[in-house]
Amino acid sequence: MLATNGRMKIAIQRNGRLTEDSVGLLRACGLSFEFQKQSLYSPCANFELDVLAIRDDDIPEYVQDGVADLGIIGENVLLERHARVHTLTPLGFGGCKLMISVPQKSSIRKISDLKGQRIGTTYPTILKTFLKNNKVKAEIVELSGSVELAPSLNVADVICDIVSTGTTAKMHGLRTLCTVLESQAVLVANQEAIHDKKKRAIIDRLMIRVHGSQEASGKRYLMMNAPADSVPKLKRVIPSLKSPTVMPLAETGMVAIHSVVAEDVFWDVMEKLKQAGASDIIVVPIETIIR
Ligand code: PRP
Ligand code: ZN
Repeated sequence: MLATNGRMKIAIQRNGRLTEDSVGLLRACGLSFEFQKQSLYSPCANFELDVLAIRDDDIPEYVQDGVADLGIIGENVLLERHARVHTLTPLGFGGCKLMISVPQKSSIRKISDLKGQRIGTTYPTILKTFLKNNKVKAEIVELSGSVELAPSLNVADVICDIVSTGTTAKMHGLRTLCTVLESQAVLVANQEAIHDKKKRAIIDRLMIRVHGSQEASGKRYLMMNAPADSVPKLKRVIPSLKSPTVMPLAETGMVAIHSVVAEDVFWDVMEKLKQAGASDIIVVPIETIIR
């Protein structure tokens, strides 16, 4: 049993696909803590929260049982573990698919071809439901890891495993057949913690920061000078520019314009702004937007 010091805890994956983004999100929320993969606890210096770094598979139970009040976990693991937790928000990172893959040379082409096959997986619960929904009778071989090796070791004929970039499957001579589940990282909370007044207040404060950093991600703040008469033209260029701030400059006939622009259209917008008469364009990343 873990020692408790009365402070709230957020569980994140110690070492894996979600680790870097989980730490990044908490840092973007202004939480200051030292993160070392070998240490279990990292107290935040400036927020009522300790970061608990554990195996991702353990996170659902830890949050359900209240060992941690909050957790960042993939929907895939959450669903497989059937944990009773409250999902606060999807996080937009850790995107992956749970897929069935078959050896390159296999004659299996469609889901019904899986009939009678041995499917190796660490996701037996989700796979069972998928097979049932597709009316396919196959044998589920429950594995604890290194699933991609199962066909070559003849432990299974095909596998059902997480595919993110697709590198692992390719490296092991596997071709994907179908998607069982699409997943991303979510922020979850213990059911009792969200009904506890003191804990709820801290969760709410964290949520404002999470949403603020989510809204800010992928956005830039633009500042530029332009002739006042070019403002209507400039407004047409910036798609996200619903209500730009326009301020007169000391120089007659010139204005300063401030606005927000999305990262993916950034260069395109910049070029058009210059053509439309803007000058001295300054761009800064947005840290947080609070509404
Ligand atoms: C999954 C899966 C593969 C890898 C696939 O593991 O088991 O090993 O990711 O990624 P790729 O398509 O980018 O090569 P996961 O990150 O879920 O780790 P875990 O099973 O050890 O928790
Ligand atoms: Zn894991």
